Amino acid sequence: MNYEIERFESIGSTNDYAKTKREDRKNLIVIANSQTGGRGTKGRSFSSKGGGLYLSVLTFYEQFPATRAFEIMQKGAVAVCETLEKFGLQPKIKWPNDIYVNGKKICGILVENTFSGNLLSSSIVGIGLNIQNDLEEELLEIATSMYRETGKRFLPSEVERTLLRFLQTDNQEKYQSYLGFIGEEVSLLCGEQREKATFLGVDKQGNLTVKQDGETRVYASAEISLRTGERL
Ligand code: BTN
Repeated sequence: MNYEIERFESIGSTNDYAKTKREDRKNLIVIANSQTGGRGTKGRSFSSKGGGLYLSVLTFYEQFPATRAFEIMQKGAVAVCETLEKFGLQPKIKWPNDIYVNGKKICGILVENTFSGNLLSSSIVGIGLNIQNDLEEELLEIATSMYRETGKRFLPSEVERTLLRFLQTDNQEKYQSYLGFIGEEVSLLCGEQREKATFLGVDKQGNLTVKQDGETRVYASAEISLRTGERL
């Protein structure tokens, strides 16, 4: 697929900008060196200081069944993992869309889709990757960067080139191989309620499978969030 690329030194949010471009119906990649209003999932903000990579990929589809929407998320997550591996790190996916290295989050992905009936009409895959950006003090316990993990200062432009290459490959079937925390005890957050479970995996539609009270249960990502490790 062909994409136009638009670059910004600083922007509010690359996802928000990509949204304003939906009416052009052209595939577009928006890249920024920093964001002043970076957004995460569930209405959270996303720390986006200079030295990181913040990009959004806006793609239009003709005949893409809505039931396969999870593939879009998978593709983004796998491309980030492949990129990190290329630079010598060992990433894991924390279902559904966080990328972890050594137990800390290094990248977040925010996917915003539009649908027409049973079809997916467009997707915006927003990726925020910590390369050598400073992280706020209060994030240091739970977040990391390529620099913090390796002591090396990677050029954002090089990381970007590698990521864009992997984003263009058909790689979503590798999602399972990067999926982390399988067999580990996790905590499931359903509204205010927390429940312990053993994480078993993720099915093709992106639903979570866990073992609870000796039973195998399946949850959709909309109904639950997963806590691992120190956030159990
Ligand atoms: C999350 O961790 O909850 C998802 C974070 C997604 C952040 C990226 S940075 C590029 C794009 N623009 C945004 O405002 N958000 C995404």
